[in-house]
Amino acid sequence: MMDGAAKVQTERVAGKMKAELGGIVVLDFGGQYTQLIARRVREQQVFSAILPCTSSLEAIRELEPAGIILSGGPSSVYDKDAPKCDPNVLAMGIPVLGICYGMQWVAKNLGGKVEPAERREYGPAQLNVEKCESHLFKNFPSNLKIWNSHGDNVHELPPGFHATGKTSNAIASAEDPKRKIYTVQFHPEVKHTERGTEILRNFLFTVCQAEPKWSGAAFIEETVESVRAKVGTHHAICGLSGGVDSTVAAVLVHRAVGTRLTNIFVNTGLLRKNEFEHTLEMYRERLGLHVIGVDATDRFLSHLKGVSDPEKKRKIIGGEFIDVFAAEAQKLQKGEAGGDIRFLVQGTLYPDVIESVSVKGPSATIKSHHNVGGLPEKMPFGLIEPLRDLFKDEVRHIGKDLGLPEEILVKHPFPGPGLAVRLLGEITRQDLGTLREADAIVTEEIRRAGLYEKVWQAFAVLLPVRSVGVMGDGRTYGLTVAVRVVQSEDAMTADWVRLPGEVLERMSTRIVNEVPGVTRVVYDISSKPPSTIEWE
Ligand code: XMP
Repeated sequence: MMDGAAKVQTERVAGKMKAELGGIVVLDFGGQYTQLIARRVREQQVFSAILPCTSSLEAIRELEPAGIILSGGPSSVYDKDAPKCDPNVLAMGIPVLGICYGMQWVAKNLGGKVEPAERREYGPAQLNVEKCESHLFKNFPSNLKIWNSHGDNVHELPPGFHATGKTSNAIASAEDPKRKIYTVQFHPEVKHTERGTEILRNFLFTVCQAEPKWSGAAFIEETVESVRAKVGTHHAICGLSGGVDSTVAAVLVHRAVGTRLTNIFVNTGLLRKNEFEHTLEMYRERLGLHVIGVDATDRFLSHLKGVSDPEKKRKIIGGEFIDVFAAEAQKLQKGEAGGDIRFLVQGTLYPDVIESVSVKGPSATIKSHHNVGGLPEKMPFGLIEPLRDLFKDEVRHIGKDLGLPEEILVKHPFPGPGLAVRLLGEITRQDLGTLREADAIVTEEIRRAGLYEKVWQAFAVLLPVRSVGVMGDGRTYGLTVAVRVVQSEDAMTADWVRLPGEVLERMSTRIVNEVPGVTRVVYDISSKPPSTIEWE
């Protein structure tokens, strides 16, 4: 192991990039749609950053925003612990759009009245647009379908404001164009709101006069430059997982420093059929990356011997992964890099950053992040996280712009602990072989049906459940394979896919015929929640 006590620097690649200045700051009151707001803004090629509602005016100013959006949130403005911004946010001379709770907070702060609604409004409603010259609703029809989710209403507008839209129950939008403060009670970022994108575009481009300069090309160019400046003449290493995030991160850094980036790809013995060889070849031959492939199968499987508890499996795999990676890094330090490895590249994405840093108060959902967990604390490297400002769909776009093969861009997510969490109970080489074959058939049939790119994940799970069957004239007593195919937007929720009967039939027949030892195939029809996508 490397020196565990060494301190790690965690500063980012560089300060903000040029393309990131002049965008939108989304101040987070903890709403379920906060990330969606930020993504919708970026879809218009305007950079957006989510900051906690408690951010200082200086932190906001640093981003030189063209506008500020105040998000929704689950609280009532009258709750004891209701989240608040610095009220001076409304006096910075920067245009503001308050959405839902954001509207209520603005109204309360500027002298209006907010009260619990007689009828809470959740879901679809009709907005009647007032006859006035609002920039937000310019050339709109007199009514629109909108999406609501609130329990309080603004009953009395603050001085200087006038209503620009109403539902049958309440004021639905209001503004003070002199101060450039705009508010909507409903959610323009949600697809169910008719012309919601236009409302956001009107705010961005008419009210804020933001420039649409957030593009893949600008991002790539600026990132490559800042990574090059940061790494200087030193070396960096990167742990590749075979997935899109670490690959895009590595290709970006490779562009900046060439072969002074060494990548490490570990075969844990828990990868899918042919995955290690195939991925390694892609990295080397098609992407030109400098990759060390480490086959650590024996080591992983021997440590997993006899273990069937899912959490223990994860812990062992995480620990082994770190040890293997650290040993390789140490060899490199002593060898070709000559002690000069200073940086570790990671494919951290914006949602992970927001969830861990953003809003200790508001944004409620925290997803444990499991990739190369624990690595930095053990290693004396600075971190390079070139994707930490990007959402997943943006990473795919960047990957495309970088010329990555389609197969990697559309690849389904695969858990770090690999097949270990899809093989229930104790892991043996024989069962791993069985699961690999069944899994390969599921993927082949999903592809054959033209569904691979339409579903979020499709895979097989091997259950430690034996059941009776008949094959030929004989009685069998074999294993059970569960097929899991889900649809999802972000893995936080998921629904099982209604596969056509013929596809299920082909999978089932092939698995039972082609995979020795399996006598039964079942289809998993549970959604998340209450189930999870993976079985362990
Ligand atoms: P669950 O099973 O929690 O999975 O519904 C949500 C998404 O995360 C993936 N997943 C993991 N990814 N390490 C990972 O890198 C893990 O330990 C892990 N567990 C689950 C899963 O495949 C799904 O896309």
